Amino acid sequence: MTREEIMQKYPKSGDNLIAILHDLQDNCEWNYLSKEDLQATADYLQFPYSFVHGVATFYTMFSLEPRGRNVIRICQSPPCHLMGASTISDELEKILGVGFGETTPDRQFTLEMTSCLGVCGVAPAMMINDQVYGNLNAERVKQIIDEKRREK
Ligand code: FES
Repeated sequence: MTREEIMQKYPKSGDNLIAILHDLQDNCEWNYLSKEDLQATADYLQFPYSFVHGVATFYTMFSLEPRGRNVIRICQSPPCHLMGASTISDELEKILGVGFGETTPDRQFTLEMTSCLGVCGVAPAMMINDQVYGNLNAERVKQIIDEKRREK
């Protein structure tokens, strides 16, 4: 779907800014918003570019830099932390060979931290793109990453 086709799904209302940015980012193979995306959104909704840029940088779900095909977000809020999120983080860094905020050289994975994902009952938890995974341990994490590597 082109950038224009995405925007035209939404009425020209400022209420749709976040939804348009999400849609544009989801449509991008590299999970980010380009300057062109921000400018086109600003033009479409008749906002100043600086306003749209400000919104895109305020929310951690948006990235202005290219990321991997799979964006992994590890919950670092206290309940997950108490249930071993740091072990999960260490395991992911070891398996992927990158640190937080980094992308694997094959552009398959980007590792990020996040706050509560709203599934504290299954802590520790992480999210890969739109899917949430809970009750994690080192073995389960390795299994999930292997599954993701097989998906093309
Ligand atoms: S604290 Fe991790 S999901 Fe709520």
